Amino acid sequence: MEPIDASLLPQTAIAVPRGVSIGGVDVLRIAEEFGTPAFIYDVAHLRDNFTRAFELFGEGVAYATKAFLCKAVARLAYESGMSLDVSTAGEYHVARAAGVPANRLVLHGNNKSIMEVERAVEEGVQWIVLDSYDDIKLAASQASTLQRSVPVLIRINPGVEVHTHRFTATGNRDSKFGIPTWTGEAAAAVDIVKKTRWLDFIGLHIHVGSLVFEIDTFLAALNSVLDFVRHVDPEIFVVGGGLGVRYLNTDTAPSLELWGQSILKHCADNGINSRVLAEPGRSMVASTAVTIYTVGSVQTKGSKTYVAVDGGMSDNPRPLLYDSGYEAFLPRSPLDARDRMVSIVGRHCEAGDMLIKDGFLPSSVAVGDIVATPVTGAYGYCMASNYNMMTRPPVIWVSDGKAQPVIRRERLEDLLRLDVD
Ligand code: LLP
Repeated sequence: MEPIDASLLPQTAIAVPRGVSIGGVDVLRIAEEFGTPAFIYDVAHLRDNFTRAFELFGEGVAYATKAFLCKAVARLAYESGMSLDVSTAGEYHVARAAGVPANRLVLHGNNKSIMEVERAVEEGVQWIVLDSYDDIKLAASQASTLQRSVPVLIRINPGVEVHTHRFTATGNRDSKFGIPTWTGEAAAAVDIVKKTRWLDFIGLHIHVGSLVFEIDTFLAALNSVLDFVRHVDPEIFVVGGGLGVRYLNTDTAPSLELWGQSILKHCADNGINSRVLAEPGRSMVASTAVTIYTVGSVQTKGSKTYVAVDGGMSDNPRPLLYDSGYEAFLPRSPLDARDRMVSIVGRHCEAGDMLIKDGFLPSSVAVGDIVATPVTGAYGYCMASNYNMMTRPPVIWVSDGKAQPVIRRERLEDLLRLDVD
């Protein structure tokens, strides 16, 4: 197997025969200084992605923080012009703690709490995306209690099948999200909201799924709601996120520009007069990070070599949840051919704890080596857990030759902080 494809690495990565640096910092030096496992994010790459999304869609485009959230990334997205999509009180809290003003937050959620809606109305969010009739009632009652009007979008369910993992498809008829268009309920919801005092109807929202690789799939999903959107003719039409990213050497994915421009053009060509916005998550952060691990054992059993590392399903549950594939390489020799077929396994007491089932590494891989897996910036740290009481890794920011933690490594005492003695 050929070496890792450099285009899977963060933008500022430089790979030479004897090492790889990101943001001007040697990856092995980061491992030495901060330990493993650790997430390493390329700040310049993050900033570039956020800026490009803002340039494409303009004001109101929101970074979907579920993909990765901490104060540092919230600040960076906000300073690059983006709004932030938050779907829980927790995401809201972190974004506000980072200094993002409420009027740059979009509140999502298919089962919002009274407290979440109350805070959003009180602080004056950019808009709330309403997901059901009960959600409309809740927003109306909070807005009327506070005597404050709140801008709202209605999330519609287009009822289309999108080719992605069944857990990441959200626009199909079986999905729990959104109000169905095909039953007439979405049209009725628009009428109700327009007549409700304190709810300011400004738009429609769809999100067809995540990790969608084909532009045509998007456009086909859009087609199923265009008549409805044209008829309602809202000020704003949000098409959600969902742009797929490359995880493997062999994957192909459209660029952010191709995705955005195709959507904007398709809407314009089909007589949509609304301002079209999006909520990209994964495509903003996925390829901006790599995770580094230390190899603790290399065991060959029959035709298989198991390379065990010091992390696993607690820092990356995606292989187990979605069968997602990843690549791996040795930062000490990133350009070497990867001539040994390996399974990279974690250290959890669970047979399925596998980061890469059928992967490749150079046959020189040995105990003590640092192994890196690229494209771990989205749905990695945010889905990490303390399973087996593992402490969660730190998040290291690199730029201009400097590395600094923006989330420190958890310590053993952190594991006890919620215990009530
Ligand atoms: N907007 C809404 C309303 C969403 O539900 C999502 C993702 C996004 C935007 C961002 O979509 P993205 O651009 O990241 O595809 N844990 C799964 C992904 C779940 C995505 C859920 N919704 C994974 O690791 O693949």
